[in-house]
Amino acid sequence: MSPLRAWGLPILALLSSSLPQIQAKSVFAHFMVANTQNYTLTDWKSDITLAKASSLDAFALNAGFNQSENALSFHHAFAAAAETNFKLFFSLDYSGNASWPKDQVIALLSNYTTHPAYFRHTDGRALVGTFEGFEAAPDWADIKERVARNVGSETCCAFIPDWTSAGPQRASSISSIDGLMSWDAWPYGAESMNTTMDEAYMSALDSKAYIMPVSPWFYTNLRQFNKNWVWRGDDLWYTRWQQVLELQPEYVEILTWNDYGESHYIGPVRRNATGVIDRGAPFDYVADMPHDGWRSNLPFLIGEYKNGTGKGEVEVEEENLSVWYRLSPGDRCDDGGTSGNSESSGEVLMKPGEVLQDKVFYSAVLDGWADVRVAIGGVNRSADWSDTPDGGKGVYHGSAPFDGRTGEVEVTLSRDGELLAQMKGRRIEDSCPGNYTNWNAWVGNVTAVRRSDENGGMAIRIQRASLWVMGLALLSYLM
Ligand SMILES: *[C@@H]1O[C@H](CO)[C@@H](O)[C@H](O)[C@H]1NC(C)=O
Ligand SMILES: *[C@@H]1O[C@H](CO)[C@@H](O)[C@H](O)[C@H]1NC(C)=O
Ligand SMILES: *[C@@H]1O[C@H](CO)[C@@H](O)[C@H](O)[C@H]1NC(C)=O
Ligand SMILES: *[C@@H]1O[C@H](CO)[C@@H](O)[C@H](O)[C@H]1NC(C)=O
Ligand SMILES: *[C@@H]1O[C@H](CO)[C@@H](O)[C@H](O)[C@H]1NC(C)=O
Ligand SMILES: *[C@@H]1O[C@H](CO)[C@@H](O)[C@H](O)[C@H]1NC(C)=O
Ligand SMILES: *[C@@H]1O[C@H](CO)[C@@H](O)[C@H](O)[C@H]1NC(C)=O
Ligand SMILES: *[C@@H]1O[C@H](CO)[C@@H](O)[C@H](O)[C@H]1NC(C)=O
Ligand SMILES: *[C@@H]1O[C@H](CO)[C@@H](O)[C@H](O)[C@H]1NC(C)=O
Ligand SMILES: *[C@@H]1O[C@H](CO)[C@@H](O)[C@H](O)[C@H]1NC(C)=O
Ligand SMILES: *[C@@H]1O[C@H](CO)[C@@H](O)[C@H](O)[C@H]1NC(C)=O
Repeated sequence: MSPLRAWGLPILALLSSSLPQIQAKSVFAHFMVANTQNYTLTDWKSDITLAKASSLDAFALNAGFNQSENALSFHHAFAAAAETNFKLFFSLDYSGNASWPKDQVIALLSNYTTHPAYFRHTDGRALVGTFEGFEAAPDWADIKERVARNVGSETCCAFIPDWTSAGPQRASSISSIDGLMSWDAWPYGAESMNTTMDEAYMSALDSKAYIMPVSPWFYTNLRQFNKNWVWRGDDLWYTRWQQVLELQPEYVEILTWNDYGESHYIGPVRRNATGVIDRGAPFDYVADMPHDGWRSNLPFLIGEYKNGTGKGEVEVEEENLSVWYRLSPGDRCDDGGTSGNSESSGEVLMKPGEVLQDKVFYSAVLDGWADVRVAIGGVNRSADWSDTPDGGKGVYHGSAPFDGRTGEVEVTLSRDGELLAQMKGRRIEDSCPGNYTNWNAWVGNVTAVRRSDENGGMAIRIQRASLWVMGLALLSYLM
């Protein structure tokens, strides 16, 4: 170690310890505790490890009252999170059979909000969310006061519920809230997602925190809940993150980590966790439909969100390509009685094939321009980017229509005529399992090959970074 660094380090350490310990912007994933009945401590650790690798800060544990798996799952989850330095908070689900009784909420929060793995809001208080439960809004002044009496008012609680059914005006008029979350993460019919609702929340909340929802997809077909509809996914995973970069909300919550029943999971499909599908879906629309590839661009996107502007400050250390599509054209099989839009939300119903498009969608985090080709069934065509980043470095996005083609899917990126990345995905078929169209998406991803000249570039970057650290050390010494 150089003498410069030897005395530089303690000063740096001193500097950083005087910075606020709690980071402002954070990214959560909504986590269905109901699917963890068979989870071991190892499963929890595995999910948390994957979430951390994707730059997530915490899971929002969605739990209904009096569910048999709650006690053991909470115990395992907090143990796993503490061990891996990850964070968790409760999102109490009031939409199921029974809403949460006040005394039970007080007992739960008094026990867990002091846990070192419990997620803390910017002011240090434990963050508590809900899924719905506006009818229980009057409970919360009392809940906060009584838990604070047990654990201290600096510990409990920052209350940031999702009361989407009440809307931003009514929900923000409740004085016990410290912020709100919205569940409006999908566009209407065949429209593109916009930020009108997010802006309504942010303006109603003024300086209180907003949790902005981001989701890649929505297809549910569960007889036990009488649910069978799609909302538009397609470009959404790209579009919505761009909206996050624009609006810069205090928090982002990904919907979801593991809601298999609504097809918006970004976590792994674990055998033994998808019982909700076995119990009431007319066919299995989740098995062999991995969504892990949607996580591959998260470290970059989250880096951009946290760096504030989304204007290219974040280094692209590894170029990635992620690709998603449905496995059959929308008109080949029975549509399963699935509607586009939801009757229970009072929306005008459409055909699912009018909402979801027969296209192969692709997003890539790139250091610079690449040419893209999409081959379906051996018909290999040059394809376009619909969106490219300012300055050439960042997230590229596009899609290519099936155009009646079926067969093997291959997406190829090349730069200056040299192969950069190639993803071979599952076949698009003319037929469907049980003749029902699976409106869920298949997602694949690859990491780009590194060329030797890029390794040279990397070495220079590292050198520059350590020069910068040394400069800062010198500066802090002189001050
Ligand atoms: C599934 O969960 C059940 C109940 O916990 C357990 O007995 C079984 O071994 C699990 N199966 C697999 C394949 O993990
Ligand atoms: C909780 O669930 C059990 C069965 O799982 C039931 O016997 C009990 O009455 C429930 N308690 C409440 C308060 O609903
Ligand atoms: C909900 O309540 C009904 C009737 O009270 C019961 O049959 C069902 O098992 C409950 N479901 C859950 C998930 O607790
Ligand atoms: C209280 O929290 C601890 C973990 O800190 C857990 O092991 C225990 O089961 C919890 N008890 C109750 C009643 O929730
Ligand atoms: C955003 O989408 C909603 C739902 O379709 C629509 O009502 C609203 O007018 C749109 N906002 C803008 C600015 O177009
Ligand atoms: C747990 O495993 C049992 C036995 O395999 C299965 O019936 C149940 O649906 C599983 N639970 C979940 C949440 O997947
Ligand atoms: C695809 O993305 C997932 C999630 O980021 C990652 O774990 C996996 O290694 C990636 N696979 C490839 C081939 O790059
Ligand atoms: C690319 O994907 C890998 C594996 O998921 C991840 O470690 C890496 O951070 C990703 N790169 C970017 C720029 O997001
Ligand atoms: C900026 O992005 C990088 C990821 O490339 C991340 O490590 C860093 O924490 C981000 N900066 C802030 C202030 O969050
Ligand atoms: C499958 O669905 C298509 C479109 O609804 C229909 O024309 C065809 O007869 C069905 N095939 C079988 C084997 O049911
Ligand atoms: C499509 O063309 C690209 C670029 O020439 C090539 O790398 C790729 O292997 C081709 N794929 C197929 C399936 O023909």
